[in-house]
Amino acid sequence: MSTVESPALADVLRHAAAAWQLFREGRSLNRSMTTALGARADLRPAVQDALYTAVRHLAANEYIVKRLAARAPAAEVAALLAVSLAQLLSERHSDYVVVDQVVTTAQSSPQTRGAAGFVNALLRSFLRQRASLLPELQRDETVRYNLPRWWLERLRAEHPHDWIAIAEAQQQVPPLILRVNAARTTIGAVLAQFVEHGIAATRVGAQAVWMHQPRPVAEIPGFNDGDVSVQDAGAQLAAQWLEAAPGMRVLDACAAPGGKTAHLAELGATDVTAVELDKARATRIADNLRRCHVTARIVIGDAARPDMWNEGSHRPFDRILLDAPCTASGILRRHPDIPWLRRPADVAQLTTVQRELLDALWPLLGVGGRLLYVVCSLFPDEGRVQIARFVERHTTARPLPLPVAQMLPTPVAVSAWNGSPLPTMHDGFFYALLEKTG
Ligand SMILES: C[S@@+](CC[C@H](N)C(=O)[O-])C[C@H]1O[C@@H](n2cnc3c(N)ncnc32)[C@H](O)[C@@H]1O
Repeated sequence: MSTVESPALADVLRHAAAAWQLFREGRSLNRSMTTALGARADLRPAVQDALYTAVRHLAANEYIVKRLAARAPAAEVAALLAVSLAQLLSERHSDYVVVDQVVTTAQSSPQTRGAAGFVNALLRSFLRQRASLLPELQRDETVRYNLPRWWLERLRAEHPHDWIAIAEAQQQVPPLILRVNAARTTIGAVLAQFVEHGIAATRVGAQAVWMHQPRPVAEIPGFNDGDVSVQDAGAQLAAQWLEAAPGMRVLDACAAPGGKTAHLAELGATDVTAVELDKARATRIADNLRRCHVTARIVIGDAARPDMWNEGSHRPFDRILLDAPCTASGILRRHPDIPWLRRPADVAQLTTVQRELLDALWPLLGVGGRLLYVVCSLFPDEGRVQIARFVERHTTARPLPLPVAQMLPTPVAVSAWNGSPLPTMHDGFFYALLEKTG
C-alpha cells in the first residue's frame, strides 16, 4: 500500500473517470484513455493503472453500488465511483487519501459537484461494511470471475471441466514474452545480453523469452534495433507452424499490427503479402517490419474480396495465414475490457465474418499449399466448430495434425518448452492447419 498523498491522485481519478465514461459507452479502454487524456500524456501511466484496476474490479464495483445506493447514479458519478472503489478494493492508496481525493474531484466539476456528498457517503459506507461485503462479493460468480453473466454461462457450458481454471487464469497479470528475431540474433545471445544488464529471463519457446520483470519496450535491450519484439508465446506458434520457406508465395490475410508478418519474414519467408482492412492499423505493420529489418508487401484491402487486391496475380499462394477477427475471448489477461465491450450477438456475427474470409481465401491456395487458421478465442463456434464446418463444405481441405489445437490459458502451460510446468506462458488460441488436396 502506498501512502502517497499527492494531490495528483485527484487529477488521475478525474481523467480515469472521464475515460471510464467513454469506455462504458462502448469504446475500448485504450481509445477512451487517449481521448480523455488529451494533452496530459504525462498522466498516462497512472491513469492506465487506475483504469485497468477499475476494469479488473468492474463486476465488484457494480455489485457494491447496487447494494449500497438507493438508485443508480448518473454516468459521471458512476464513473467516479468505479475508479475510486477499485482503488479501495486493490488497496493502492490509503483509504483516507482515496476518499479525500475523489470527493475533491467530484467537487471540481459542475456535473458531479451536487453528488460529492453522495460519493463520500457511499465510499464511507463501503469502508464501514467492507468486512461483511468482501465475502459476499466472493459468493457471486460474476463478481469473483469479473465476467458478464452471459459470458460466464457460455464459458461454463463450452468448457465444463476447465472454465474455473480459465476464468482464474484470465484474471492474472500476463507475463511479458518476447520474440527473438531469428534473422538477426539467437536466443542464447539475447539471454547473455540480458544477464549483462541484470535482467532475469527464461526461454519458453522456439523464439520465445519470458522477461520476469516487465518494463517499457524502450528499456528492453535490443527492442529498438529489432532484435526482440513483444509477442505472446501462443501467437508465436503461427509463423512456426506455417513453415513458410524462402521463395514461397505467402499471404498474411489479416495482418495488422504485423507481429506475425514480421515473424514469418524473420524465419525466412521472402515473398509475403500482408493484407489489412484498417488503414490506420496498416501503418503499424510498416513500422514493425522496419524496426525488425524485414520486408513484406503491404496491401490495404478486404481479405474477403481478393478480386480487389489480387487481380492479375495468377500464381497461387503456397501458404496462407488467416489470423481472423474474433471475440478475443482468449486474451482477457491483456485486454480485460473485452467481455464488457462485447454483446452476445457478436459471437455469431464474427463467426460469419470468419466463414466468409475462409471461403474467399481458400481458392487462392495452390494444390499442396497450406492454410493456417488462428483465432485468439476460446469459443468453439469460432474455432473447432468453424473448421469442422469448413472441412464439410470444402472436400479439398485436409486438416493436418498440430501439437496443440486449442490452447487454454489455464494456470499451467500445456506446451512448456522443456516439459516442466511454467506459469501460463500463452494466451488462449485455437489453431487449425489445412492442406489443399486438389
Ligand atoms: C487478430 S488481428 C491480427 C493480428 C496480426 N496477425 C498480428 O499478429 O499482429 C485481426 C486483424 O484483421 C483485420 N481485419 C478484420 N477484417 C478484415 C478483412 N476483412 N480483411 C483484412 N483485414 C481484416 C483487423 O483490422 C485486425 O487488424
